[in-house]
Amino acid sequence: MDPLTTLGAALAAAHFGTPLAYYAVAKRWLKTPWRVKPDPAYAPAVTVAIPTYNEARHIEEKLEDIYRQDYPRDRLEIIVVDSASTDDTAERARRWAAAHPDADVKVVEEPQRRGKASALNTALAMARGGVFVITDADCRWSQRDALRRAVSWLADSAVGAVTCLKKPAADGPAGVEAGYRGHYNVLRLAESKKWATPIFHGELAAYKTELLRKIGGFPLDIGADDSHTAAKIAAMGYRAVAAEDLWCVEAVPHNGYHRWRIRRAQHLLQHFLKTPVEEAPPPMRPILLAEKYLHLANPWLLPAAVAALVAAATPPALAVLATGAAALVFRSCRTWTAAQLYLIAAAVKNLRDKELVWEKQDK
Ligand code: GDD
Ligand code: MN
Repeated sequence: MDPLTTLGAALAAAHFGTPLAYYAVAKRWLKTPWRVKPDPAYAPAVTVAIPTYNEARHIEEKLEDIYRQDYPRDRLEIIVVDSASTDDTAERARRWAAAHPDADVKVVEEPQRRGKASALNTALAMARGGVFVITDADCRWSQRDALRRAVSWLADSAVGAVTCLKKPAADGPAGVEAGYRGHYNVLRLAESKKWATPIFHGELAAYKTELLRKIGGFPLDIGADDSHTAAKIAAMGYRAVAAEDLWCVEAVPHNGYHRWRIRRAQHLLQHFLKTPVEEAPPPMRPILLAEKYLHLANPWLLPAAVAALVAAATPPALAVLATGAAALVFRSCRTWTAAQLYLIAAAVKNLRDKELVWEKQDK
């Protein structure tokens, strides 16, 4: 075979082979025991923080959602931090609080929009709960015991943070979003069983408040505030896990789906760029190494492989390309390819704009 064809084939093999190998390893981790014990009776004081920017459409339903939880109401504090919304989010939240005197709801209005992480830090500074939970205004906790389930994991002194698994509310273009989440959840759970998952979900993430304070709160320079705090807590030697029995439904935007995926990929890249492998406890290192490679480097092998095969233009090179193109009829292949393209676009975009304060997309 000519060198270009060989190069293209090798790049393609590495691009697809590494994640498949990691997935195989993850499946083995999935079969291992948790080595931590959730306690369903554990019910410490909890603070739920809801950061909002233009969430008038969602805020009341979100507050209802939390109010409906079967968690003891006298141990539940809710803090809405609104960052200068241009709609009536804060007013609606205040009205809802006045109509529900049995719920402990505080509404903080920041005079300026400084981003989600900054708003979470405002809530953290006032929080009275020993557990600090973050949630987005536009997501639903469909399980009435979601909060109790999340908190139960924190009863174990080895666990520092817990997050949910995600179900998309819609499939996204060409089924891309739904497909992406299936594999994704397997990895999150497997990593959690091994030690900790470096990817957390702002839809429902619960932390021990003292640990959050110890790491200095939410980072202002990294969009993935949820994941980065979890990874820092894991680096301190705590487990940071996605719980197998905890689900969140996530709204998928009708418009601007691609922009949304790119921004979120960008935030994950920022997080992985600033999470050193060597600072993690030994069982966390293979997880971080794999996820860093898969997010930061592996996507680039795909266009490199295609370019080499196109340039080679030999019959075997064209056969590989044709097979790859044909494979796109399978949803899993489209899902994969889309994720790679989002990561590449995110890396490029991140060079000039970090998107730490982002446009609200309608869901
Ligand atoms: N207070 C405040 N200030 N809240 C904000 C700001 C802000 O500047 N920007 C966004 N928020 C709030 C939103 O109102 C929402 O409740 C939550 O933060 C998440 O923002 P969305 O605009 O809904 O983003 P998403 O649906 O893509 O969220 C996902 O990605 C984010 C990172 O890109 C979730 O995983 C988030 O938790 C994550 O931070
Ligand atoms: Mn959202």
